[in-house]
Amino acid sequence: MRIAVIGAGGVGGYFGGLLARAASGDTPALPGGRVGLLARGRHLEAIRRQGLHVESVHGDFTVRAVASDRGRELAAELGVTPAEGADLVLVAVKAYSLPDAMDEMEPLVGASTAILPLMNGVDHLDALGQRFGRDRVLGGLCHIESAIAAAGRIRQRSRRRDITFGELDGRETDRVRRIAATFAAAGIPHRVSDDIVRDMWMKLIFISAMGGMTAAAQRPLGEVLGNPAGRETYERMVREAIAVARAAGVRIPADAFEQVMETSLGMDPQMTSSLQRDLAAGRPVEIDALCGAVVRYGRRHGVDTPCQQAVMALVQLRAAGAA
Ligand SMILES: NC(=O)c1ccc[n+]([C@@H]2O[C@H](COP(=O)([O-])OP(=O)(O)OC[C@H]3O[C@@H](n4cnc5c(N)ncnc54)[C@H](OP(=O)(O)O)[C@@H]3O)[C@@H](O)[C@H]2O)c1
Repeated sequence: MRIAVIGAGGVGGYFGGLLARAASGDTPALPGGRVGLLARGRHLEAIRRQGLHVESVHGDFTVRAVASDRGRELAAELGVTPAEGADLVLVAVKAYSLPDAMDEMEPLVGASTAILPLMNGVDHLDALGQRFGRDRVLGGLCHIESAIAAAGRIRQRSRRRDITFGELDGRETDRVRRIAATFAAAGIPHRVSDDIVRDMWMKLIFISAMGGMTAAAQRPLGEVLGNPAGRETYERMVREAIAVARAAGVRIPADAFEQVMETSLGMDPQMTSSLQRDLAAGRPVEIDALCGAVVRYGRRHGVDTPCQQAVMALVQLRAAGAA
């Protein structure tokens, strides 16, 4: 299987690193597998110079992999023709990087390509479908805490590091089975979902409230939920996002609110979100793909989302001030 990883950062560097490791060595777990990483800047230079180093609570490793900032170059190195394309393109960029990243994906996507995004949010399914054809696109998400610690180095810190994915219509197709077998060979915990759109929305319902509130308040989750007004706003955001998902025709479980609140209250009170950390560090933020998506879908389906809207505005204004 020829695999291109679009964005070898926290998510793509970790899972791409595991895939590249499985495809390398004298007796590879993925015989005939080839893995290429799209990266850029100093991170790319370091990967080319000394390989990709992964420091993980599940075991450290260093792997040599084909890497480039040009999709055309990756395609050539992987031996991929434009007509055929790579077998699997994993998309792991931040939402605001997707338009440029799709330009680089162009030479890697052909007749035999499955595109599997691992990003938070749901809008990217439409963006990828419009650009490359909806039948090429699978749904996916991951549970992991991982980031670029330094150029060429990924630090993965969470107990969970798993991928959930599936066809958008829920069928268990040959390509889903092939991808699952590839993940299994690479030691990537995974689950095939029969309703990945619901699963992606469930994650969005949680992360729009969790990421949005911790970022807007610049306080850890425990403090947000420990403050009566913070807790009420958080709960309203969850209810708004559930109402939007239902109005959009997503089969959200009857106890979705209880599930999301149980998850939220069960987390480490010191937990912070990457949205919060990105905002504090003056980096671009993914708020438009999180609260922004809930607000947009709400407008489309006639559902009011005042708390999601207010939190989005606060984060956007803070981000604009930090820029
Ligand atoms: N990290 C986590 O623990 C985690 C967990 C669950 C879900 N997610 C989701 O997964 C997605 C990816 O997040 P992440 O944390 O992995 O992001 P990240 O660490 O910023 O990684 C993305 C990488 O892609 C690179 N990139 C973007 N566009 C590129 C291009 N055109 N050419 C070459 N390289 C390009 C970025 O380079 P630059 O830095 O130069 O832009 C960056 O190195 C997001 O939607 C996030 O919400 C993340």
